[in-house]
Amino acid sequence: MREGEPQNQYLENAKISAEEKKYYKLLKLYARLLAPFYDTVTAILSNLRDKVVDFTNAPVKSRILDVATGTGKQAFAFAKKGHEVVGIDLSKHMLKVAVKKNKYENVRFQVADATKLPFEDNRFDVSCVSFALHDMILTVREKTLKEMRRVTKTNGTIIIVDYGLPKNRIGRFFVFNFVRLYEPYYPEFIKSDLAGLLKNTGIEIKRDVPVLSGVARIMKGTPRVASGVKNKREENIAQ
Ligand SMILES: C[S@@+](CC[C@H](N)C(=O)[O-])C[C@H]1O[C@@H](n2cnc3c(N)ncnc32)[C@H](O)[C@@H]1O
Repeated sequence: MREGEPQNQYLENAKISAEEKKYYKLLKLYARLLAPFYDTVTAILSNLRDKVVDFTNAPVKSRILDVATGTGKQAFAFAKKGHEVVGIDLSKHMLKVAVKKNKYENVRFQVADATKLPFEDNRFDVSCVSFALHDMILTVREKTLKEMRRVTKTNGTIIIVDYGLPKNRIGRFFVFNFVRLYEPYYPEFIKSDLAGLLKNTGIEIKRDVPVLSGVARIMKGTPRVASGVKNKREENIAQ
């Protein structure tokens, strides 16, 4: 498939499990219902967007992919800094909101499935996924991370922003039981071995910072290279 092509046709033809079919169906419905209100219900995350950009610390005019971009808030925060940004999402309803709000020439949006990114290997300096991994079943999450690793340059950066849990027991109890009320896949996500999954999908986490009192976290990683093979950044350090 060429870059820029819509993926609906592809998705319909792809071989996926019954569990994944159910997930895609639910996701489309959920995104369609949520799209008009998404920015309002996530207003609390507004300050976090710029924090993610600062934390990423991407070189000037980096090529950035925002996976599962939704209404594009994280993509816009990167675009504001002058980066070349592409935001992809499966939901055309979410993207419609993003396109309507867009006032930047250096950001574009396209319908695509995160598990089949329509980009060549090593295309982006940074790929970011913000508050979307918890919305995915495990197999989809795994495919998404593999795809992000594939399209990110070997010396590039992978950013993951998602739910975490506060350190103290009472905080953990309340956050867990509150978020599970409105996020169907969250309990599995929060109990899952994310560190193990990242390692298996070839992503090496270099920093992991709690934000919003531990309710969320930002992780910064790089594509892991096979042992014995140095990536460009390591070569520079070695010299
Ligand atoms: C909670 S929203 C997060 C949106 C945005 N990244 C943010 O930080 O606000 C989750 C988004 O993930 C998208 N999504 C979930 N699974 C996806 C997939 N397999 N491919 C592309 N987008 C997906 C949904 O359509 C939805 O827009």
